[in-house]
Amino acid sequence: MPEQPPAAIRVRDLHKSFGALKALRGVTLSFPRGQTTVVLGPSGCGKSVLLKHLVALERPRKGEVWFDDQRIDQLRECDLGSVRRRIGFLFQQGALFDSLTVSDNVGFPLVEHGIGSTADREQRVRRVLRMVGLEEKYRQMPGDLSGGQRKRVALARAIVLDPEVVLYDEPTTGLDPITSDVINELILKLADELGITSIVVTHDLASAFKVADHMVMMHEGKVKLEGAPEPFRASEDPIVSRFLKGEANPEELAEIERVQAQPRAIRSA
Ligand SMILES: Nc1ncnc2c1ncn2[C@@H]1O[C@H](COP(=O)(O)OP(=O)(O)OP(=O)(O)O)[C@@H](O)[C@H]1O
Ligand SMILES: [Mg+2]
Repeated sequence: MPEQPPAAIRVRDLHKSFGALKALRGVTLSFPRGQTTVVLGPSGCGKSVLLKHLVALERPRKGEVWFDDQRIDQLRECDLGSVRRRIGFLFQQGALFDSLTVSDNVGFPLVEHGIGSTADREQRVRRVLRMVGLEEKYRQMPGDLSGGQRKRVALARAIVLDPEVVLYDEPTTGLDPITSDVINELILKLADELGITSIVVTHDLASAFKVADHMVMMHEGKVKLEGAPEPFRASEDPIVSRFLKGEANPEELAEIERVQAQPRAIRSA
C-alpha cells in the first residue's frame, strides 16, 4: 500500500450530542496533508457537525481534535485565532453578508485578523476574486449575483488568508452541472497549485469522484468506510452501495408506503 502523507488534521473518538441526539458517536479519522478527502453520507449523519469540530466551532463531549501537533478542541476561544487563520471554511449556507459588497465580504477575514494595509488587502481580495473568475464583481452586492457566483465569492473568502487547509461544506449543492464543475476545477486547482489540504463534504457523487484522493463514508454519526475512491465504488456494504446508487433502503420505502396508506384527511391534518 502507498504510504499516506502525514495528517494535517486528526480526530480521535469524537462524540457530540445535542440533548438526546447523538450527532457523532466515536469518529476517528486522519485527513492527509496535501490531499483532498471527500466525506459522504446521508443527510443528518453528522458531516457538518464534524467539519465544525475541525475549527472548534463545535466542541466535543468526548474525544480529541488535532491540527498538526496541536490539540485544539480544548483551546479557549481567544487562543483559536492562530488556528483559524490557517483553515478556510466554505459554509454549507454560503453565508455572505448581504449588506457588504463582494470585496468587503471577501476581505472580511483580513480585517478580522488585522492583516495588511488597505492597499494590501485590496490586492489580496482582487487576487482571490481573479482565481475564482469574478474580479469584475468586486464592487457589486451579493444580492445581484447568481447562486453559483455567490458560492465562488464565498470560496474566495475562504482562501483569502492563504490557508493550509480548506473545508468545503457542500460546495456544489444547488448548482447546475457546469457551474458545479467550475467549483470542482477550483478545488483541484487549489490543491494542485497551492498544495492545500482539502476536506469536501458533498452529496454530489460526480464531484466526489472527480476531486477525491481519499474518501470517507459516514452513517449515523460513525465512519462506515474509509479509503481510496475506487474500492468505494466496488464496496458490497449495503449502506455504501445503496448510497452510491441513490437507492432508498427498505425501511425508508416502508415509511413512504405508510404515509400513502393514510386517508388524505389525516395526511393533511
Ligand atoms: N446546533 C445544533 N443543535 C441541535 N442539533 C443539531 C445542531 N447541529 C446539528 N444538529 C443535529 O445533528 C445531526 C447531524 O447534523 P449535521 O448538520 O452534521 O448533518 P449533515 O450530515 O451535515 O446533513 P446534511 O447532509 O443534511 O447537511 C442532525 O440530526 C442535526 O439536526
Ligand atoms: Mg450538512
